[in-house]
Amino acid sequence: MKIHGKEYRTIWYEGNVVKIIDQTKLPHQFIIKDLKSVKDAINAIKTMEVRGAPLIGGTAAYGIVLAILENKNLEFIKKSSEELIQSRPTAINLQWAVNRMNNKISMINSDDLFNVALKEAKAICDEDVSFCENIGLNGLKIIEEIYNKKKDTVNILTHCNAGWLATINWGTATSPIYHAKKKGIPLHVWVDETRPRNQGANLTSFELNEENIPNTIIADNTGGILMQRGKVDMCIVGTDRTLSTGDVCNKIGTYLKALAAKDNNVPFYVALPSSTIDWNIKDYKEIPIEERSSDELSHIEGKDEEGNIKKILIYPKNSKTMNLAFDVTPAKYVTGLITEKGICAASTRGLKNLFK
Ligand code: MRU
Repeated sequence: MKIHGKEYRTIWYEGNVVKIIDQTKLPHQFIIKDLKSVKDAINAIKTMEVRGAPLIGGTAAYGIVLAILENKNLEFIKKSSEELIQSRPTAINLQWAVNRMNNKISMINSDDLFNVALKEAKAICDEDVSFCENIGLNGLKIIEEIYNKKKDTVNILTHCNAGWLATINWGTATSPIYHAKKKGIPLHVWVDETRPRNQGANLTSFELNEENIPNTIIADNTGGILMQRGKVDMCIVGTDRTLSTGDVCNKIGTYLKALAAKDNNVPFYVALPSSTIDWNIKDYKEIPIEERSSDELSHIEGKDEEGNIKKILIYPKNSKTMNLAFDVTPAKYVTGLITEKGICAASTRGLKNLFK
């Protein structure tokens, strides 16, 4: 998708370095950063220079390539793999991508290791692009149906950033929106600000603006009253890990939006590539929920009137904080899962029909 009118992917390999768009600097600065070592890749994931489940999977895949560039010793690759997996615990794509890379290179001799790994990392990213494009084409059908009934602007609410910046391209939740825009369907997106890191305001609104899609940022608690007033036709969110039961783990606050949607008969869809499905865990309480630094709550970064980027304290100095990054929306609140293979019920049967 476009930034300043130019097409980009969120990650690519060029001249022995991995290039990323530093998402901690958006929307005020657009900076392309080089990752030169596996440590750089781990750091980029931890500090959220790259974020979003599919993109951290892609970054971890390239992290293995960078590890091999540094040192082909199997112990080093194994240790790097473990550190990559631990860099963010909730999104399953990370573990999925690292395991896929290790399976691919396990029987390869040291001379071919780098080329095989690079090809696989590129394949993981290309596959994500095509999966997200298909998610868009499948989700488009739902938006078309709403438009054909309503014959007026379709209002979609989304949470966090499950846009192209969270994937390699297209996004998951935003892909149906981009496809509907191409079809000429009039759209408007309600963008949840998504405290504490404001991925909705800083990233989703930014990327929708760059693609000329009308959108309005709202405080996280506003969705409920908008639904009561009939101002939301559907919700589409992404996910960091969807269990085979259909329970959906996503950015903190998703659950409350799903409850409000249920109470107001607003369809609540979750868009995901199959790399985000956890086929092993059955009980959502076993999902590791990332707890992040309290600074993300107590401090906020922005641009002052002179154009300087500043970080300021917004809480009483001695107040305690708690910063859980994700929550789980039980399957019963999810209208459907939009995947690369089609739309299915949020249930074991629904998912198995599509994927096994
Ligand atoms: O903490 P983040 O910014 O990585 O969280 C991202 C989300 O929760 C997204 O909704 C999810 O990863 C889906 S991305 C297509």
